[in-house]
Amino acid sequence: MKETILSGIRASGKLHIGNYLGALKQFIELQDKYGRNCYFFIADLHAITTPFKFDEVSEDTIQVAADYLAAGIDPEKSTFFLQSYVPAHTQLAWIFESITPLGELYRMTQFKEKSEGIKNESVNTGLLTYPVLMAADILLYKPTLVPVGEDQTQHLELTRKIARKFNNKFGKTFPEPKNYALKPLRIMSLTDPTKKMSKTGDEALMLDDPPDEILRKLKKAVTATDTKQGSPGVDNLKFLLEQFGATAQVKDFSKYNELKETLAKTIADYFADFRAKKKTLLSKPDQIHEILAEGAKKASKVASQTLAEVKQKIGLI
Ligand code: TYM
Repeated sequence: MKETILSGIRASGKLHIGNYLGALKQFIELQDKYGRNCYFFIADLHAITTPFKFDEVSEDTIQVAADYLAAGIDPEKSTFFLQSYVPAHTQLAWIFESITPLGELYRMTQFKEKSEGIKNESVNTGLLTYPVLMAADILLYKPTLVPVGEDQTQHLELTRKIARKFNNKFGKTFPEPKNYALKPLRIMSLTDPTKKMSKTGDEALMLDDPPDEILRKLKKAVTATDTKQGSPGVDNLKFLLEQFGATAQVKDFSKYNELKETLAKTIADYFADFRAKKKTLLSKPDQIHEILAEGAKKASKVASQTLAEVKQKIGLI
């Protein structure tokens, strides 16, 4: 079957091994398999839905772009671009907002988590409509597969609902894309293994962390918790070892030091080439801008075609 692939990553800091295993690693596999039918982008407009400082998002965009490229995204094979360079994303999002009930958006777990503790009237609208922009990001390219980690499953489900609703109301236009992974991944935090790994403090291993930093963070990783349900920390470390193909190298899993040191060395070796490539890429930020702009030109051709089709179907002049 001819598949079309699309996925994105927010421009909110360097990528960690959760982003890599849950998403980026699969982008590379899919790029090698489907080449020209792959669309990958950096979601800078999603990055501004949570508090940010001037220049922060543009710096993060360059970091994330370098992460993509160093990991193996090849702009000659895939279409690789910056979301805000393709205005059709926000235009289609507006149209989708007109057919998406508020109730669907209030139900989103990520919205509930991110708006927790903020007074209702102070929650930014963008945080609420975030998944509608994501649906537009996706459906503009009519993909069949969207590789994302477990935390994005609910957003992808909403995307399918929006596609279905649009198709029912205005005629078949969009496919209902599925996640690529049958069992999407959720890598846990090193410091609190009951939560998913995210980008704060010592809870995450960044893809460009030097070997001594990887070892330092892993040495501090929690192995025992009071949950009385085994040890989610040890399970997470074992799972990482398995993902990086080094389970056989540990003889005794009850010796946490051995487990952590083997894992640290495995991850440091795995990303050695990546670190070198990323350093070279970051020395030429202008080239990165150029790649993103060139990619946006390619993406715009497809996106503006879909937008025109949508406008015509809903009856805009
Ligand atoms: P973002 O930027 O938070 O994460 C990027 C990708 O990494 C995955 N991920 C994880 N996977 C496993 N374990 C973890 N601990 C972990 N943390 C993050 C995410 O599931 C994701 O696949 N809303 C999206 C960005 C986005 C998007 C899109 C994605 C915007 N538009 C269209 C796909 C299609 C996000 O915030 O991902």
